[in-house]
Amino acid sequence: MRKHRIAAIPGDGIGKEVVAAGVEALTALAALDGGFELEFEHFDWGSDYYKGTGLMMPADGLEKLKPFDAIYFGSVGAPDLPDHITLWGLRLAICQPFDQYANVRPTRILAGIESPLRNAGVGDLDWVIVRENTEGEYAGQGGRSHRGHPEEVATEVAIFTRAGVRRIMRFAFQTAQARPRKFLTVVTKSNAQRNGLVMWDEIAAEVAKEFPDVTWDKMLVDAMTVRMTMKPRSLDTIVATNLHADILSDLAAALAGSMGIAPTANLNPERQFPSMFEPIHGSAFDITGMGIANPIGTFWSGQMMLEHLGEQAAADRLMRAIETVAANKALHTPDLGGNARTADVTAGLIAAL
Ligand code: IPM
Ligand code: MG
Repeated sequence: MRKHRIAAIPGDGIGKEVVAAGVEALTALAALDGGFELEFEHFDWGSDYYKGTGLMMPADGLEKLKPFDAIYFGSVGAPDLPDHITLWGLRLAICQPFDQYANVRPTRILAGIESPLRNAGVGDLDWVIVRENTEGEYAGQGGRSHRGHPEEVATEVAIFTRAGVRRIMRFAFQTAQARPRKFLTVVTKSNAQRNGLVMWDEIAAEVAKEFPDVTWDKMLVDAMTVRMTMKPRSLDTIVATNLHADILSDLAAALAGSMGIAPTANLNPERQFPSMFEPIHGSAFDITGMGIANPIGTFWSGQMMLEHLGEQAAADRLMRAIETVAANKALHTPDLGGNARTADVTAGLIAAL
């Protein structure tokens, strides 16, 4: 029997609730499939751990995670801690050292889910956003001097390396090539950001030559928000910088019906390190502990994890079950306008499996 070892890091807020739901669903799926086993180990890292220890994860946290086949992550963020502490202490502290440079965010309107776009339904919005995930605006370069003085100065430097842009561009062209439309949109802001993002455009043109069967075009990020909203069918695969894709992927999730549905894979495509799978919504402390968090984003992230682990048949089965659950309005949580609870959706998903 194939065995996959998964590190589960629920983190903060509703992360704890949705990861519990995801582990329950994936365990049920593995038992039904019969060909593989998932062995979960839980790590209680995050804001509560920080309050006890001053650290979001232990100093040897990465060493602990390294032997796993994948990481199943919830969310980070607490109302009483600064967001940059929680983010840099856990999520980015894993993505960057594990070189998870390709952040993949599929979004589509599922049957039964209502898009806020007038006249948009199933098939009208079916995108994969590829987000550069180790450098750019999230490189962490910069500093502050003369703190608190009127002359205080702060810099936040975006870093773009030829190697970094080339590898994400190759990954994005490959992603586009594997989809039926073979169509990629390269997003930048190379009119205003005249150094790093002009290099992006140049590298995109170079890499495009390696993929003659992929059609591609370019968009400036501001105009991209309009195209996503007004002409969703005109897009398929999208590649953008760390920050631009962060923003565009929230828009994409909202246009597809809810932040509660959207999944993410943080991939180290070369598999030197474990990859990490998580819903894109945050810790959502406004609804934490109420049992109404939508677990679909976590199920879908689990589906991406199974694909990465080579369990394609189980991944397909899970996707069909997710579609069945989404189509059933009685299983819609409040973010989708319903009154189902996390536990109802989880039971519904397992029944659909
Ligand atoms: C995301 C999130 C994170 C990010 C937050 C939690 C810092 O918004 O995964 O998109 O900006 O990367
Ligand atoms: Mg985001």
